[in-house]
Amino acid sequence: MVHNEIREKFLKFFESRGHKLVPSSSLLPTDPSVLFTTAGMQQFKPYYTGQADAQEDFGSLNAVSIQKCIRTSAIGEVGDESHLTFFEMLGNFSFGGYWKKEAIEYAHEFITKELGLNIDYVSVFEGENGIPADTESEKIWKSIDPTLEVRRFGREDNFWGPTGEEGPCGPSTEVFVKGIKYEIWNIVFNEFYCSKDKKFTPLDIKGIDTGMGLERLTSAVQNKSNIFETDLFEPLMSLLPDLIDIRKKRVISDHLRAAVFLLTDGVLASNKEQGYILRRLLRRAMVYENQANLPPHIFEDIIAKIIEIYGNEYSELKAKKDEIMNSYHTESNKFMKALSSGIKELQKTTVIDSESAFKLYESYGLPFEVIKEVGAEKASSLTREGFEMERKRHQEISRAGAEKKFGGHGIVEGDLTAANKEEMWQKTRLHTATHIIVAALKKVLKQDLPQAGSDINAERLRFDFTFPRKLTDDELREAEKIANQIVEQDVVVTKTEMPYEDAIKSGAAGFFKLKYPPMVKVFTIGPDTGYFSREICGGPHVSRTAEIGRIKITKEESVSGGNRRIRAVIE
Ligand code: SER
Repeated sequence: MVHNEIREKFLKFFESRGHKLVPSSSLLPTDPSVLFTTAGMQQFKPYYTGQADAQEDFGSLNAVSIQKCIRTSAIGEVGDESHLTFFEMLGNFSFGGYWKKEAIEYAHEFITKELGLNIDYVSVFEGENGIPADTESEKIWKSIDPTLEVRRFGREDNFWGPTGEEGPCGPSTEVFVKGIKYEIWNIVFNEFYCSKDKKFTPLDIKGIDTGMGLERLTSAVQNKSNIFETDLFEPLMSLLPDLIDIRKKRVISDHLRAAVFLLTDGVLASNKEQGYILRRLLRRAMVYENQANLPPHIFEDIIAKIIEIYGNEYSELKAKKDEIMNSYHTESNKFMKALSSGIKELQKTTVIDSESAFKLYESYGLPFEVIKEVGAEKASSLTREGFEMERKRHQEISRAGAEKKFGGHGIVEGDLTAANKEEMWQKTRLHTATHIIVAALKKVLKQDLPQAGSDINAERLRFDFTFPRKLTDDELREAEKIANQIVEQDVVVTKTEMPYEDAIKSGAAGFFKLKYPPMVKVFTIGPDTGYFSREICGGPHVSRTAEIGRIKITKEESVSGGNRRIRAVIE
């Protein structure tokens, strides 16, 4: 059975059982606390909590999807038989439609009847931390097949979630099939909501969330001992010459595949957030390319093959083929120039600790994985955590340096610097206007908007936020209208200082993914009860909104990293 037949079978199976087919969402989620989409349930979070109504949106309480996912936690393990950074997750979901019995029966029928696989054993939650053992699932499995082995595991293995800082979560049951070491299907029973401070409250709607990795499932169906021998990977692996070590071939195939999907979703290689991950994936593959002295067309052929394999399922890959190739070439040209001197320098360095590793990264762009691997014994004490801490430390030093330099020539107040008082006043008005537009957009788009950056000069404000598509003219007009209503109502802007935890509890949104000090300033626009906007921010801000004047959104555009950018002026 080829991989596309497995997809079709899965979707048909659940569609014919009352599930609405929902397309994969972007790899870049709207949840600010996670960098990537890591599970099929992420786009459905509001349906589990009751914030959105599945019946209204899909005409059904049940959904089925094949979701593009990226998990970076396994980056170091890629190259073995089963780990990947990018993978597709087959999932069926229910938001109050059905519960354990149906979910388990569907899984059993699909695995054994539709795919003809033999279940080795299943696992259920054994109970922990006051949450009882899932004896119900055990009984259901046994009623379907009394000879089935049911193992019980704790929270580590059989409890899932939440994704991000908070969200639905619950016990799970996992299916293991014969011949495959790892779990094939994870069936989660979302019964609780886990808050930021890790408190569990029962959910009103009981939800089903299942996830099955297409690559692992395909290896089971195709009777292959590992995912790289399936028809999803074999066509990529076979483009690489035999002289390359098998582990490196796997890493190249995995990393280029993830890179193609990230580029398609609008990420560009950079030193920050999603762009930083993309850069690491590409560069690690490029180091192997360089070590094996591969002619340039091989990576191009692999990228073209990835687009061919997935082009029917994800037509955007075909549509963006030129952009993907161009971005790949840009990064390759940038990196290849510095690579051989970087490797030489690495070989000269006698002990590679976090500090010297960071220098190699900063001067030559060598990614952590490469330094660790090529450095071998010399880098034995180097850890990813140590390296990341060093990188953050340098980011903070350079940020502080930039502030000082500029501050020396003008006046500094909170987060703003200006050449003179007049400019400071103009920037202060634009600063409050930024908070107002962000809050107005959140209202119009009915969701949180992770902030990705802000820049204010004397003429205009500009800010970036993560959102998967272009905003419509109507949405922009509506946001502008709401923003100006707040200005016209001349509401008060208040500043309070409080511990960071209290700020979050009081509903304040953090701006960027900054590390905040223990005490923070919180700016609230509008009355404490029913405020319009509340943000942790260094200020300064106007004291009443009418001081701003009319707000005009002048532009909305796409920027790197899957982010949107808004520009606005005040009149
Ligand atoms: N959310 C669960 C997982 O990712 C089941 O879909 O494994």
